[in-house]
Amino acid sequence: MTTPGAPAPAPLPTTFPMARPPGCPFDPPEELARLRGERPITPMTYPDGHVGWLVTSHTLARAVLADRRFSRRPDLTHNPIIKIDDRKPAPPGAFNAMDPPEHTHYRHLLTGQFTVRRMRRLTGRLEEITADRLDAMERHGPPVDLVEAYTLPVPALMICELLGVPREVQEPFQRNMSLVLNLKTDRARAAAAVGELMESMLGLVSAKRAHPTDDLLGGLVTDTDLSDAELTTIATVLVGAGFETTANMLALGVFALMRHPDRISRLRAGGDSTAKAVEELLRYLSIIPATVRTALEDLELGGVTVKAGQTVTLSLPAANRDPLQFADPDTLDLTRPATGHVAFGHGIHQCLGQQLARVEMQVGSRPCSRDSRHCASPYPPRRCRCATTCSSTACTGCPSPGTDAPAV
Ligand code: HEM
Repeated sequence: MTTPGAPAPAPLPTTFPMARPPGCPFDPPEELARLRGERPITPMTYPDGHVGWLVTSHTLARAVLADRRFSRRPDLTHNPIIKIDDRKPAPPGAFNAMDPPEHTHYRHLLTGQFTVRRMRRLTGRLEEITADRLDAMERHGPPVDLVEAYTLPVPALMICELLGVPREVQEPFQRNMSLVLNLKTDRARAAAAVGELMESMLGLVSAKRAHPTDDLLGGLVTDTDLSDAELTTIATVLVGAGFETTANMLALGVFALMRHPDRISRLRAGGDSTAKAVEELLRYLSIIPATVRTALEDLELGGVTVKAGQTVTLSLPAANRDPLQFADPDTLDLTRPATGHVAFGHGIHQCLGQQLARVEMQVGSRPCSRDSRHCASPYPPRRCRCATTCSSTACTGCPSPGTDAPAV
């Protein structure tokens, strides 16, 4: 552990994110576990030469995320992954990259739009969308690319429903979202896609000003005095934050469960709560590798002095595998209460869309069987509603073996 007052060790070279161990694709890099045990806050040299910090323990990660002396502003923050010299202030509306009081102002307006009523209505639509995608997969027949056929389109369509994107523009909208979020897209193409996305968002905002609608964006247009530029940015932030995150969780969740057929069986049998299972998958997979904050003043953290202006990178996977917080943290245990995980962050920037993400994951992980006599799913029993394929011999009662595993 870090000893208070001890001289700081030499900064780690920039290796973030570090290489994962061979074998298990879900385990965080071993180096993170070693650091967490020895010095849970350690100096690190960032790609631009800045000497900041890396935090790996659950306690310290939550402490930073809850501490107003740390800023989320991009113009103050050094990037821990790539060398980039465009440290600019957040544009109007980019509340996810703001500190209070600006962040509080926007967040308050948005929280009011994420009402239980709206989320409930979305659940019904989500079940329909899920059923449609699964029908399409069934028609296609094996092999099916789960990501292309299910995990990307479902959250994309949900975001469109949430914002009130009309059906006729959903396809180009989704195409641009995928391009922007795909790391393989070259910079020029990505910039063009961002331009097109922003343009279609602006068009959407103007259309909603002319003809008010009862959806999240329509609500913001009519109930607030936000400008078109702010609304366009907010809509883009929601799309960016809520699309690929959930898609990755759905895909990796299915993959993780398929590597643990015993867990699938218990989930299918209704023995394990899907809500608990989803929380544990969020903890275990921790799909966001890190978030960053920058100290606004000199402060003490875990026995070291973090100087004003220093950026602190918080490894969410390392925090979520901290044995001081979760017993046997490297085991996927769908029955554990994974409460307190930081997969959605913590503090004032904690994920705004977490309820939506949970609903998307829970609907996908409900137990189902092709044998309608045992079907516990909310869907009409005439068809299987599984999103994954499997070759399990446990698929008894399944008219077409190999299509009977639950989605996550
Ligand atoms: C913030 C994770 C889905 C919208 C965050 C943060 C995390 C996170 C870790 C905090 C970042 C930080 O503190 O710097 C996830 C994961 C998801 C998911 C793992 C899926 C499994 C969604 C969805 C939406 C969404 C579906 C959209 C509707 C946002 C927004 C913020 C945020 C707007 C910024 C909140 C703020 O700064 O006040 N998310 N998210 N997320 N998320 Fe999510």
